[in-house]
Amino acid sequence: MSHDFRVGIAGLGTVGASAVRMLVRQDEQLTARLGRRVRVTAVTARDRARDRGFDLAALTWFDDPVALARSGDIDCFVELIGGEDGAALEAVTAALETGKHVVTANKALLARHGVTLAALAEKKGVSLAFEASVAGGIPVIKTLREALGGNSVSRVYGILNGTCNYILSRMEAEGLSFDDCLKDAQRLGYAEADPTFDVGGFDTAHKLAILTSLAFGTEIDAEAIYVEGISSISPIDIRMADELGYRIKLLGVAERTKTGIEQRVHPTMVPKSSAIAQVMGVTNAVTIDADAVREVTLVGPGAGGDATASAVVADICDLAAGGAVPAFGVPVGALRKPERAAMRMHTGGYYVRLTAYDRPGAAASIVTRMAEADISLESIVQHRSEDAAQRDPSGRSGAPVPVVLITYATTEAAIRRAVDKVIGDGHVAEAPQVIRIERE
Ligand SMILES: NC(=O)c1ccc[n+]([C@@H]2O[C@H](COP(=O)([O-])OP(=O)(O)OC[C@H]3O[C@@H](n4cnc5c(N)ncnc54)[C@H](OP(=O)(O)O)[C@@H]3O)[C@@H](O)[C@H]2O)c1
Repeated sequence: MSHDFRVGIAGLGTVGASAVRMLVRQDEQLTARLGRRVRVTAVTARDRARDRGFDLAALTWFDDPVALARSGDIDCFVELIGGEDGAALEAVTAALETGKHVVTANKALLARHGVTLAALAEKKGVSLAFEASVAGGIPVIKTLREALGGNSVSRVYGILNGTCNYILSRMEAEGLSFDDCLKDAQRLGYAEADPTFDVGGFDTAHKLAILTSLAFGTEIDAEAIYVEGISSISPIDIRMADELGYRIKLLGVAERTKTGIEQRVHPTMVPKSSAIAQVMGVTNAVTIDADAVREVTLVGPGAGGDATASAVVADICDLAAGGAVPAFGVPVGALRKPERAAMRMHTGGYYVRLTAYDRPGAAASIVTRMAEADISLESIVQHRSEDAAQRDPSGRSGAPVPVVLITYATTEAAIRRAVDKVIGDGHVAEAPQVIRIERE
């Protein structure tokens, strides 16, 4: 039997401690499968005294992750510290420079430095593996890079942030406001004290940047991503979506279009019948549209210690078995510079909710503004004021009432132009809500 595969783990928090426990628990099965033992030999974290649910005595402790990364006693360095720079970047760089394979779950680090780190790994003849960085326990990296390697991918999109999906699911199920759901998510530990990173769409954007590169063989281009979060979604949007046959999800979408690669993160209306619409709560899902398989949807846990450790351990096992694939599917030199498709060129259907004054001519003027921008309307729903006493003899109240338009495919630029005109006409009482509709 060949020698043990020695692993050093940096970061023993939610994911790191679960990974160590999994490697111990599955020791026999993994040894049988790989023909060699995978052995955690050294670890590092900030607090040596903290109970991690396993015995630290048999492991070499390092106070400094860079020292662990440089240690000659490991074959593979596992980075589970987090953060796009600082200790994580320094240690990963040190490990690659000294010829160790690296496994990481750190999407922020990859979105920013992924290509540079992959180039360094290539130069040193080692691997950079990051299955856990996108959608936690769902094996989406391997699926895109290897299992669907013979396909040409046209679009990849998904629910990549459990916090947002939990909030939107509860808003729908219980008719609650965004703020109330967020508070509950924080109380239950599904949302951070500072939720901006999740609800603002930035976490989804990091993951999308990685998926885009794998799907289209392009360099990571995180700056090109259009990002919009979910905090503007109100119960009325959720109700209207339901009435119209849709559900609202925060999606990360990467798509090959005529003008280039579109990368966008925003609240999206998806048909209730679609696979992605069935995904509720903290669960994640990724759909890949590709020429040969048409559509593949993977659904599963996007976070959590054990689920994420499952992906980390899978990467460690691939490396122990001697598997070596380029980090982003092709050697770094073969990654293409992505041609960016401008967001104003995005084409699709739109939901536009206007809070329009209920007075003669308002609806007609709105429809005219849409027509002037070459936008065809699939439907228009106007709710009357609930208060009959407010209405004049014609039935108008003058009060602000919701008017919802669903458009046929049009461009982002046309929608923006039309909405600006409507605002300028003075028919609306508050900023219009615009939500993009994703085709199946
Ligand atoms: N949690 C998830 O569900 C999940 C899912 C997918 C991906 N990820 C990614 O996995 C990574 C780890 O996440 P996590 O949730 O496990 O984080 P975590 O629970 O906060 O754990 C971080 C660990 O890093 C250690 N650490 C922090 N700074 C350090 C330093 N300078 N030197 C040495 N150790 C240091 C901490 O030590 P102490 O314990 O001593 O404080 C802790 O053990 C992140 O990149 C995250 O984005 C997490």
